[in-house]
Amino acid sequence: MSEAADIRFKVTPGGQLAGRLRVPGDKSISHRSIMLGSLAEGRTVVTGFLEGDDSLATLSAFRAMGVQISGPDAGKVEIEGVGLHGLQAPAAELNLGNSGTSMRLMSGLLAGQSFSSTLVGDGSLSGRPMKRVVGPLVSMGAHIETTAAWTAPLQIYGASTLTGIEYNMPVASAQVKSSLLLAGLYARGQTCVSEPAPTRDHTERMLTGMGYPVQRDGNRVCIEGGHRLRGINIDVPADISSAAFFLVGATIAPGSDLTLLHVGMNPTRTGIIDILQQMGADIRVLNERDVGGEPVADLRVQSAPLKGIDIPPQLVPLAIDEFPVIFVAAACAEGRTLLTGAEELRVKESDRIQVMADGLQTLGIDAQPTPDGMVIEGGVPGGGCVGSHGDHRIAMAFSMAALRAQGEIEISDCANVNTSFPGFVEQASKAGLQIKATRE
Ligand code: S3P
Repeated sequence: MSEAADIRFKVTPGGQLAGRLRVPGDKSISHRSIMLGSLAEGRTVVTGFLEGDDSLATLSAFRAMGVQISGPDAGKVEIEGVGLHGLQAPAAELNLGNSGTSMRLMSGLLAGQSFSSTLVGDGSLSGRPMKRVVGPLVSMGAHIETTAAWTAPLQIYGASTLTGIEYNMPVASAQVKSSLLLAGLYARGQTCVSEPAPTRDHTERMLTGMGYPVQRDGNRVCIEGGHRLRGINIDVPADISSAAFFLVGATIAPGSDLTLLHVGMNPTRTGIIDILQQMGADIRVLNERDVGGEPVADLRVQSAPLKGIDIPPQLVPLAIDEFPVIFVAAACAEGRTLLTGAEELRVKESDRIQVMADGLQTLGIDAQPTPDGMVIEGGVPGGGCVGSHGDHRIAMAFSMAALRAQGEIEISDCANVNTSFPGFVEQASKAGLQIKATRE
């Protein structure tokens, strides 16, 4: 697991992005491929797996529960599924590093096991809210202990009898929905989850692909315990959340012409494209195709002038991980951009509203944080030193800001870029970003 605070990025101002590149595999789908592949009967072969610290933390956890997993080898992972009741008690606590997805999804899955387990994480993960999953899991009959503040470590006691519930999620969260569906695999009767706005549906798609019955009706999804999963082949598309940095970088850097290959285009994830196009970006969606139940396309992006917009609140959950780099786009746009309805950003790997506002102000941009969003007056970023607070997406977002900045941008605490985008510095350099990573 990377420890933050030991890598610093230095990015020279100017330049442009060009060429064709395929960013690493989708993080959400990579996590789910290990979890569901482990619970399936028979072999699951995954290609395009994200070899980042977060998905590797999930992989190690399932190995520690007795699942034979070979790889990853150039993105290929082979999982010998043990069936829904074949996991074994881990010998030690499961360390999930920086990964909120691992902890939230696994808490549901582990609540249904015959054995007990303990989930721990790094400083950032240990501060993130877990009540949103622990609360409904306990109402299903799970026995889970947290700190007094409802944070990790999570002690999950086995041999609980779970009963399906009808749950209306107060926050639009795919992690909560998925956690309850995974617990629902082990529950008596039906577990139904309704969401206040559409969130990523990779769990539902993968369960269906593995032959598990899932009922979906509008904003409600239901699952019944007692069925089986079958091992399959999974081709993980490139992560649109990683492609997002390049979509913004190529848009703001004059003269850019970049094509991003094999990008996952699940409609619950494409808010970034809608928001950037509304701001004036020139993004063309090419070669649309379906890969194993997930839509995929190539994206050609050429530089274009941006204008500030009021971001439609319904697009917020569809672009929830992309706001750090959307704020950079807004900082380079003409006029004012307003984001509201995004209070969830305050409980991501860092407080992404505060940390981005601080960094943009350091670069001379008028960025005013609000409780649930930000108001940004576009301009020309200057140079300066900004802190990423160990947040991978903040580090990559500020790297792209250098393409339009007037001075060098230095970013601290960048080691966690490896959680979602191993090889970022190399791929970004190849595309034209003048970036160097140094040990602090
Ligand atoms: C994820 C869901 C989102 C997202 C996270 C990955 C997932 O979190 O921010 O990076 O894989 O289910 P929330 O469900 O908390 O919004």
